[in-house]
Amino acid sequence: MSRVAVCDHGRVDQTEQGTPQPPTFFDQVGGEPTFRRLVHEFYRGVAEDPLLRPMYPEQDLGPAEERLTLFLMQYWGGPRTYADQRGHPRLRMRHMPFAVDKAAHDAWLSHMRTAVDGLKLAPELEQQLWDYLVYAADSMVNTPG
Ligand code: HEM
Repeated sequence: MSRVAVCDHGRVDQTEQGTPQPPTFFDQVGGEPTFRRLVHEFYRGVAEDPLLRPMYPEQDLGPAEERLTLFLMQYWGGPRTYADQRGHPRLRMRHMPFAVDKAAHDAWLSHMRTAVDGLKLAPELEQQLWDYLVYAADSMVNTPG
């Protein structure tokens, strides 16, 4: 009888044929709690930021925190809850209503830097995460200046 191993967040680690699946980045950094900590810390920074805070349409930052958390979990190989709730990310398009200029980009990344540092990941995992965030933030800029 073949054994099917399921890790604690529900992903099947081994197929019926016994082919081992490599761990995802999501698994390697500690799964959902790590992404929740990252984005929660990030939004603590946004809540106090005089440039970024007014850009967020909702009074309550909780739903925005949830959306970014689910997106990042999905991007790194975790559950696809973001897609179930929001559909295709189309992030550049979703940011068009907001003037993302260099100042907003820099502020966003600075809060992310603080949040990433707080995770105390292994250096190579931290670098992978950070490189992605830098690249993604750059691609979100839609306003000169
Ligand atoms: C570069 C600076 C950025 C600024 C100023 C910015 C600002 C915003 C604002 C104001 C919102 C609306 C809040 C909401 O209703 O959810 C938002 C949404 C969102 N942002 Fe950003 N963002 C930036 C970069 C990024 C990057 C780099 C990512 C991905 C790595 C990202 C992912 C998201 C996601 C997933 C949402 C929710 C989309 C949805 O499902 O509606 N943002 N952002």
